[in-house]
Amino acid sequence: MQVIVTDRAGEIAEYNVAGFSELFSVLSDEMKIDALCGGCCSCATCHIYTDEDDAVKLSDCDENERDVLDGLLHVQSGSRLLCQLASKAEISKLNITIAQAE
Ligand code: FES
Repeated sequence: MQVIVTDRAGEIAEYNVAGFSELFSVLSDEMKIDALCGGCCSCATCHIYTDEDDAVKLSDCDENERDVLDGLLHVQSGSRLLCQLASKAEISKLNITIAQAE
């Protein structure tokens, strides 16, 4: 999966990863996301924005993720937590933007 990531400074980077867990690891290793809870859906430091066109390919937002997102200031229609993302259809290319820090 090719992922185009726009970070908080507006820098764009491209990654080729096998899936979301690898993407989460890469972005937390590079500190593009803080991932303070390690992917337990509690810190929201992995808040990202996804493109509307990609939404149908992504797993649905469950109640826990929705509860965490509801507590954030900078939520938009494409807001998701990267640590909770999975695909429900094959994804060859995805655009994400790292959300503003809270
Ligand atoms: S890493 Fe903490 S909610 Fe995703």
